[in-house]
Amino acid sequence: ADRGLKKTGRKDELAALAYAASDCVHYLDIVSVILQIPDGYEGYPLELFSVPKHYEDDLEKVLIPAGLVADRTERLARDIWHDIGKGPLVALCVLKGGYKFFADLIDCIKALNSSAETGSVPIAVDFIRLKSYQDKLGMADHQQMQDDQSTGHIEVIGGDHLRSLKGRHVLVVEDIIDTGRTMEKLLELLNEHNPKSVSVASLLVKRTPLSIGYRPDYIGFEVPNEFLVGYALDYNEYFRDCNHICIINQNGLEKYSVKNT
Ligand code: HPA
Ligand code: MG
Repeated sequence: ADRGLKKTGRKDELAALAYAASDCVHYLDIVSVILQIPDGYEGYPLELFSVPKHYEDDLEKVLIPAGLVADRTERLARDIWHDIGKGPLVALCVLKGGYKFFADLIDCIKALNSSAETGSVPIAVDFIRLKSYQDKLGMADHQQMQDDQSTGHIEVIGGDHLRSLKGRHVLVVEDIIDTGRTMEKLLELLNEHNPKSVSVASLLVKRTPLSIGYRPDYIGFEVPNEFLVGYALDYNEYFRDCNHICIINQNGLEKYSVKNT
C-alpha cells in the first residue's frame, strides 16, 4: 500500500481507507474506481438529444451523451493533474479519434493550472497518427475490425518528433482501447525513446474477449462490446461529426461500409 501511495501521489479518501484497511490489498486495486456501462444498458433514444439529421437512421441509441463525457473528462483531468506533480508534461494525442477527448482534457488541465495557487504544470502538446492494418482495410464490419486488429501491426505517422520525448513525462491520450494491441505496440515504441515516464488516458475501454488484458492508467468509461461512434470516434471516417457517443445500427454499418462509400 505504501508503494502505491508514493507512486501515484493521490491522497483522496479512498486511498486513506485502502491504506488503513489492509496491507494485503493493493492500493491501486481499490482506488481505481471504474465507471462501467453494463452490457445491455439501454442508453437513451436518439429523439432525446440533438443528433445530426444525416445520421438519424444510422444509429441505434445514444450510449454516452456529450455532457456526461464532459463531466467525466473534468474529473480525469483532476486525477491526472494531481498525479503529475511538477511536470513538465508532453501530452501526446493519438489521431484522429483522440482529438476531441484530447482537446477537452487539456482544456480542463489548463483550467486547473490557472486556478491552482501552487504547482501548476507546464504542458506541451504533440500529435501522432497510427496506421494499423484495419485502417488500411477500412473495416467492413465490426467483427472484421476485431479480427484484423488482432493481427496487430501498426505504423506511426509523425514519428520523427518522438526523439524529443527523451527524459520527459508523457501522457498518451486515446479515444478507445479495444483489444489493447495497438496501445501495447505504441508503448513499446515510445519506450524506445527513453521518456522519463509514460502514462495513458483513454476515454473508453471496451469489454471484449479479445482483450490482451491491457488497462490504461486513466479510464473514462468501460463500455460493452459494441461498435461505438461519435465524439470523434468513426466508422470509415463517418460519425466523427456527432457529439454524443452512440451505438451504430445495421443500417449505418451497411450504408457507410467501405463497399458502399
Ligand atoms: N468505434 C470506433 N473505433 C474503434 C472502436 C469502436 O467501437 N473500437 C476500436 N476502434
Ligand atoms: Mg483510436
